[in-house]
This record gives sequence, C-alpha cells and structure tokens, in this order.
Amino acid sequence: MEQRKLGGLTCSAVGFGCMGLSQAYGPADEDASVLAIRTALDAGVTLLDTAMSYGAGHNERLVGRAIAGRREEVVLATKFGIVRTDQGVGLDAHPDRVAGYCDASLQRLGVAVIDLYYLHRVDPDVPLAETIGAMASLVEAGKVRHLGLSEVSPAQIEEAKAVHPIAAIEFEWSLSWREPEDDVVPAARAAGAGLVPYSPLGRGLLTGKLPTGPFAPGDFRATDGRFAGDALDRNLTLVGELTRIAEKRGVTTGQLALAWLLARGRDVVPIPGTRNHARVAENAAAADITLSADDLATLEAAAPRGAWTGDRRSFAAHGTTRTTA
Ligand SMILES: NC(=O)c1ccc[n+]([C@@H]2O[C@H](COP(=O)([O-])OP(=O)(O)OC[C@H]3O[C@@H](n4cnc5c(N)ncnc54)[C@H](OP(=O)(O)O)[C@@H]3O)[C@@H](O)[C@H]2O)c1
Repeated sequence: MEQRKLGGLTCSAVGFGCMGLSQAYGPADEDASVLAIRTALDAGVTLLDTAMSYGAGHNERLVGRAIAGRREEVVLATKFGIVRTDQGVGLDAHPDRVAGYCDASLQRLGVAVIDLYYLHRVDPDVPLAETIGAMASLVEAGKVRHLGLSEVSPAQIEEAKAVHPIAAIEFEWSLSWREPEDDVVPAARAAGAGLVPYSPLGRGLLTGKLPTGPFAPGDFRATDGRFAGDALDRNLTLVGELTRIAEKRGVTTGQLALAWLLARGRDVVPIPGTRNHARVAENAAAADITLSADDLATLEAAAPRGAWTGDRRSFAAHGTTRTTA
C-alpha cells in the first residue's frame, strides 16, 4: 500500500480504527475482532488506532493480542485523556498522571513503545502546555515516538506545537462532515502535522449500507441527529448519488468516500473502522483508487458540502458524560 507521512511518522495511506471492536456500534465478537485487525495487517495497513478509553482498556488488550508476534508491521497509535469506568466517562490529562496512563497502555498493548501517542481530549482543568510537557517526557524516556492531538482547535494546535512537535491531528472529517476544512485542516498543515480523519465513512452513512431498523443497544448513532428522521432521509438521498457514481466507477460507495479523503492531500490518512474482516479488506483497497480533479468536481456537485443535514455537535455537545470516543 502507498505510504504517507504524518509529521515525521511514515504509515500506510489507509489506517484501521479499532474503536468499534470494543464500543460504539453494538456488540463485537472477540475472535472476529482479532481476525479483522490481522486482515488489516495482511492488506498492508500499518496504522492501528486505539485508545485507553475504548472499552475501558478492552480495545488495547485486543490490539495487543492481535499484533502479538507482528509488532514490526504496526504503526501503533493510542490515546489517553478520556477515562472510562463503570461509573461513567470523564477527562483527565493531569501531567502527574500521564506517565501512569502511558505505562498502563504499554502493558495492555504488550509493547515496549507506542509509535503515536495522542491526547484524546484537552482537559479543561489543566493548562495544555503542561500536558504536552508531560507527553514530551515520554518521548525522552523512549516510551513514545511521536505525539498527536485529537479534537483540538487551531489555537490549541499552536499552543501544543510550541512545547513539542506534533505529528498528527485526529478529527472527524468526511464527505458528510466538512467543517474542519475551514480551521483545523489549515492549522494542522501550518504546524507541520499530518491529518487523521476519524469516522471517515461518516459512521457508516457513507457506505450506503447502514443497518435497517432501529440501531442495536449501545450504538451511539441512536443519539446522533444526522441519523434520524428527515435529516437521515436527506443524507441517504445524497448517499444514493454517491452510490451511482461509485457503481459507474466499479468501486463501492465507502471506497469512494475514502478515496475522496485520500485525494485531499498526501498528508491525509483516514482510519475507517469495521468489525467485519471482509469490509477491512474493502476499505484498505480504497488506497488503490485515484480520483482526478474532474472526479472530485463531480462528487462535489453530486453531494455538495452544504447539502448534508444534521450537526455532530448536537451529539458531541453533551461533553464528557456523552463522549463516546
Ligand atoms: N479521536 C476521536 O475522538 C475518535 C472518535 C471516533 C472515532 N475515532 C477513531 O476513528 C475510527 C473510525 O471511526 P468510526 O468507527 O467512528 O467511523 P467510520 O469508520 O466512519 O464508520 C464505522 C461504521 O461503518 C461501518 N462500516 C465500515 N466499513 C464498512 C463497509 N466497507 N461497508 C459497510 N459498512 C462499513 C461499520 O460497521 P461494521 O462494524 O458493522 O462493519 C461501522 O458501523 C474509530 O475506530 C476510532 O479508532 C476517533
């Protein structure tokens, strides 16, 4: 697979997001999840994206099991800062506790070093520079190779970069969620950081294969306004347009959505997630699709930025208690 650069880090053009193997889209089978991760590696995916909060540690243990004996094939990204327990979900990025979170992740993952260590969410009770300072100490200690930020503003990118180089910024970006193009994308590029779009398939919307009927228990789309009522109907009409274009091209709708992101620059590495190993291979194969300027114009005309309905903030605004990632 094509290799791309996230700051000073080299990885596959398409990564694999592991969150759904432990939370967010309904139940997942443990062995099928391990197969999904190994299928990603077999397809040439190197970037695996996990977090200490995903399944409250379950996801990192699962990734550790899947990559045992294959560590050298993996660019391993994990995150700290969201703390998920039986009591609920909160934020903690206090500098005194960063090293402990990192050690616990290393242990669950069964590795000696993390390639890309993200601050998952800025802790409003802690100056960002202090959190980044503690993360920089992990690089000095050889426990972490590169630093990343997730869900940050342009000002926070600047503030963090003043303390330590930032290799990657992770944020929601897809054909159906375009707002970061106005601020986060240019700010990340100005800081020399790579772009890691999460939910690049629009949380499944852009595959044209959303489950029919009500979402399964625990599926966080049940509370996301983009997946309900008239908003969903309008969004599915746009997805239908994308499907017509994909069929003409001989690719799937989801592959077209990933190829659109890949065409936004060689510093873009989307991390689609799925519990299904056949879909892992399908998503990884999007790296082989090249879209021309004409193709991109056709897509923009068929599903313009302003035509999508619903706001992810109607969901995210609930803050820490509703943070699902
Ligand atoms: N930093 C953050 O705050 C943050 C937030 C959210 C996510 N993330 C990361 O980004 C990764 C990806 O995001 P995401 O999982 O939310 O969204 P996504 O990749 O846009 O979509 C995942 C959904 O699409 C479905 N899907 C995937 N491939 C498919 C295919 N080829 N055909 C049909 N359906 C398909 C999956 O269902 P099945 O499982 O049933 O296939 C799942 O419901 C996560 O795993 C996580 O690592 C980070």
